[in-house]
Amino acid sequence: MTTKSQRPEVVHDYPDTSAYDPKTRRMMDTMIAAERRFLAERELEECECKDGMFPNPAASVTSRRGFMAGTAIAMATAGALPRLASAAAPPGAVEYAVPEDPTKVQGRPIAQDGGYGTRSQFETEVRWRFPTKTLESSWTMTPLDKSRGMVTPSGLHFERHHGGIPTIDPARHTLTVHGMAKRPKKYTMADLMRFPSVTRFHFIECSGNTFTEWKQAMMKTVQVTHGLTSTSEWTGVPLSTILSEVGIKDGAAWILAEGADAAVMTRSIPIDKCWSDAMLVYAQNGEALRPEQGYPLRLLLPGWEGNTHIKWLRRLEISDKPFMTREETSKYTDQVKIGLARQFTFTMEAKSVITFPSGEMKLPGPGFYEVTGIAWSGRGKIQRVEISTDGGKIWHLAALQGPVLPISHTRFRFPWKWDGTPAMLQSRCIDETGYVQPTIQDLVAARGVDGHPKFGSIYHNNGVQTWLINPDGSVVNGNHQA
Ligand code: CO
Repeated sequence: MTTKSQRPEVVHDYPDTSAYDPKTRRMMDTMIAAERRFLAERELEECECKDGMFPNPAASVTSRRGFMAGTAIAMATAGALPRLASAAAPPGAVEYAVPEDPTKVQGRPIAQDGGYGTRSQFETEVRWRFPTKTLESSWTMTPLDKSRGMVTPSGLHFERHHGGIPTIDPARHTLTVHGMAKRPKKYTMADLMRFPSVTRFHFIECSGNTFTEWKQAMMKTVQVTHGLTSTSEWTGVPLSTILSEVGIKDGAAWILAEGADAAVMTRSIPIDKCWSDAMLVYAQNGEALRPEQGYPLRLLLPGWEGNTHIKWLRRLEISDKPFMTREETSKYTDQVKIGLARQFTFTMEAKSVITFPSGEMKLPGPGFYEVTGIAWSGRGKIQRVEISTDGGKIWHLAALQGPVLPISHTRFRFPWKWDGTPAMLQSRCIDETGYVQPTIQDLVAARGVDGHPKFGSIYHNNGVQTWLINPDGSVVNGNHQA
């Protein structure tokens, strides 16, 4: 019998892609190269500054020596700050001189920042762009490894763009509601803001989140495996208010939502969803929407796949049938067997992931750690989250951080004393409908992996994520090993 401590150390390396034909390999290899660069850059920023948990120097993926030589020269030249003196301020920050003792000198004058604040120059987390061929059609991922609480800062909310980020003057933007409407109407932003508003916390998750992990443990960090989900506070008008205003003709069953970006994004939405909890939102986390999130107007469909939350919303066309747009035929369908695909799979099922400890971190030694992460469900509230440290044999109850809101990220915490032996950390959640987050093996058994030549399948992977803890404290992606 093999005991836990006899388990060999696991070093996660990227899958060997040489078995694939060159065309098939290209996307995988590009992704892998980009995450390698990302980790190397992060190491450059953080390697000597933080002990212990972030990141894992042993898992260095490129020439650490090369980077450190450059850093040493830069520091000697600048001759001042213990952190990277040569570095420009991180995005969203302004770099200031750091006094030896902040109690002995006056601080900065107030309101010299133009009146809109910045974050600390010592904070560096950023969204990470997925390496696609064009800069306009791509996506960025939220740094969940650094996330706290349940709200995603607006500047770190994940993005998916098909034709770049449009610049739209709200004074000229309108929403046209027509088709099977008794009183078709064009609304200005001022018109929409006069209606009674509602404010709700909701996550948005891209249905492609975690698509790399169907067949093997592929990517290293939780930002890249799970970073296509974010939670914001959204404010806007219930869509039902607008539908009542225009009046719906008998037989209406679907509404086409259209964006004003260069891709003119379109999705068909069943009218029942439009009457229930759909919103036309213009505010996010207490201020106007960010341009990347649809400024000045976005369709919000709580719990449905991110692609349906049409940004820069300019048109709603009411119909008796779906419109069969590109985004619901060739994309955003789930092939289950060769020749068969599920279409209009809107709901994001319950899912959870441990964000600490997670891939590329390193625990400094045995002892106490607070395991934490997020859970969410497109069907309502998270009812419970369970943690396993042995790959799913024994499950322990985690604590949920209140308020636990429906269709929102929910933070969970679990106190853990690590004994220094190999561990397999997993979380699984149960939502208020009783649905239990499945294992990746369960999902593969149900849908197969014939739906995509590279990854096996793409959309709606809500399987349990495994992180392996090695005896040296290094944390690696352990998908498909538990
Ligand atoms: Co879907």
